[in-house]
Amino acid sequence: MAYDVSVVGLGRVGLPLALSFADRGLAVLGVDNDPQRLATLAAGRMPFGEEGAQEQLDRVLPAGRLALSGRVPEAADAEHIVLTLGTPSFSHIEIDMRDIRSALDDLLGVLRPGHALTLRSTIAPGTTDWVAGYLAKHRGFEIGTEVYVAHAPERIAAGRFLVEIGTLPCIIGGVGESSGEVVGRLFEVFGAPIVQTTPVQAELAKIWTNILRYATFALPNLLMMDCEQHGANVFEVIDLINRDYPRGGIARPGFTAGTCLRKDFTFSEERSAAPGMLLAVSRVNESVPLFLVQGLRRRLGSLSGRKVAVLGLAFKADTDDERDSLSHKLVRLLERELADVPVHDPHVATPTVALEEAVEGADAVVVATNHSEFCTPGTLRTIVDRAASGCLLVDPWNCWGSAQVFAYASEVAALARSS
Ligand SMILES: NC(=O)c1ccc[n+]([C@@H]2O[C@H](COP(=O)([O-])OP(=O)(O)OC[C@H]3O[C@@H](n4cnc5c(N)ncnc54)[C@H](O)[C@@H]3O)[C@@H](O)[C@H]2O)c1
Repeated sequence: MAYDVSVVGLGRVGLPLALSFADRGLAVLGVDNDPQRLATLAAGRMPFGEEGAQEQLDRVLPAGRLALSGRVPEAADAEHIVLTLGTPSFSHIEIDMRDIRSALDDLLGVLRPGHALTLRSTIAPGTTDWVAGYLAKHRGFEIGTEVYVAHAPERIAAGRFLVEIGTLPCIIGGVGESSGEVVGRLFEVFGAPIVQTTPVQAELAKIWTNILRYATFALPNLLMMDCEQHGANVFEVIDLINRDYPRGGIARPGFTAGTCLRKDFTFSEERSAAPGMLLAVSRVNESVPLFLVQGLRRRLGSLSGRKVAVLGLAFKADTDDERDSLSHKLVRLLERELADVPVHDPHVATPTVALEEAVEGADAVVVATNHSEFCTPGTLRTIVDRAASGCLLVDPWNCWGSAQVFAYASEVAALARSS
C-alpha cells in the first residue's frame, strides 16, 4: 500500500496525530473534506494553534511524509485508517454520528482484508461494536481476524499534544481476536504505554475522563453561586475547605465548556440508568455567564447603554479554540441587556478590539477567559487607568489575586502596582 496510515478528519485531534505519525517516519495520508483546510496545509500553514505543530508541518511536508486528499475512499491506500471526525451531540441528548457514518459509507466498497480501522473520535458506549457490526453486515468481514476495528480514544488536552502523545497511556479497545494487538502496534510508535481493554471500556474510560472534569468544575461554580446568595466569599470558603485537609480538595470556579466537556457527558446521559444528574452538572456550568450578568445587574443596576468589556473569547486559557465557549454566551446575554460589549482576545480568529479600546471608559470588565497575558498586574493597571471610575471588575478565575468575583477597580488598584 502507498501509505502506512491514513488519518480521516484533519481537525484539532486528527491533524496533530497525522503530523506526529509522519514525524515518527510513517508515510501518512491526511484526508479532510474541507478544501480550505487542505489548501492551508498544502501551503505549509497550520490552520489553528497547537504547540510545536507548525514545526512538525515544516519538517514532514517538504520531506513528502504527509500527503493530503479530499477523498475519503483514498484512505484505503493505507493499512491503517484512523477516523478523527467530529462527534457532536444532537440537542436530543444523543450522539450525532453522521460524519462517522458518512466516512464509513465512503470506505465500505474499498476496505479489504488486512485493513485496520481505528476510531479515535469520542464516541458513545457501543459505537465501536456497531461499526464492526456495520462492516460485517455490509461486507461480510470477520472482524478481528480479517479486518480490524478498535477504539483508541484521544485524551490529550489542546496545546499539550506533542508532550502527551508520548507519555499518556494509550487505551485501546479492539473488537474480536486481534484488533487490539494490530492497532496497538500502530500506536506503539509514540512510545507511551499501551493499555489493552474491551471496546466499551475504552469508550467509557474516555467519556468518564471528561465527565469527571466537567463535574469537578461544576462544584466550585455552584459554590460560587451559593456564596453570592449567602453574602460569602467563595475564595475564602475554598481556602477553608482545602487548607491542610488531607482528603482531596475543591477546584476553583470559572467558565467550563469547550467542544468536549460540553457534549461528552451526553454520551452517558443518552442511556443513563439515573438520567438527570449529568444534565444538572451541565446546567450548573452553563449558568455561570447568567450568574455573572445578574451579579453585574445587582451592583450596577440596568446595563442598558453601559459599557461592559469582555476579556477572552476562547473556551479556555491560552488557546485559539473558541468553539462552544461560554464567553460567546456571556456576550449574547450582555447584549440582551442592551449593554455595549467590546471584546478583546489576542488568540482567536474572530476579530476583536485592542485591550485599551475595550476597557476605555468601561463600566465593567469581565475576565471570561483566563489567558496568561490577562492575569498580569500590567493588564490590571491598563484597566484601572482607563476604565470609568467605579468600574466593576468581574474575575471568577481570581486571575488578579483579588480573591473577589466582583470587585470595584478602586478596591484592587493596589494589585495593579504590585510589579
Ligand atoms: N478538540 C479536542 O481537544 C478533542 C480532544 C479529545 C477528543 N476529541 C474528539 O475528537 C473528535 C474530533 O474532534 P476535533 O475537535 O478534532 O473535530 P474538528 O471538527 O476540529 O475536526 C473534524 C475534521 O473532520 C473534517 N470532516 C468532517 N466530516 C468529514 C468527512 N465526511 N470526511 C472527511 N473529513 C471530514 C472536518 O472538515 C474537520 O477538519 C471528536 O469526537 C471529539 O469529541 C476532541
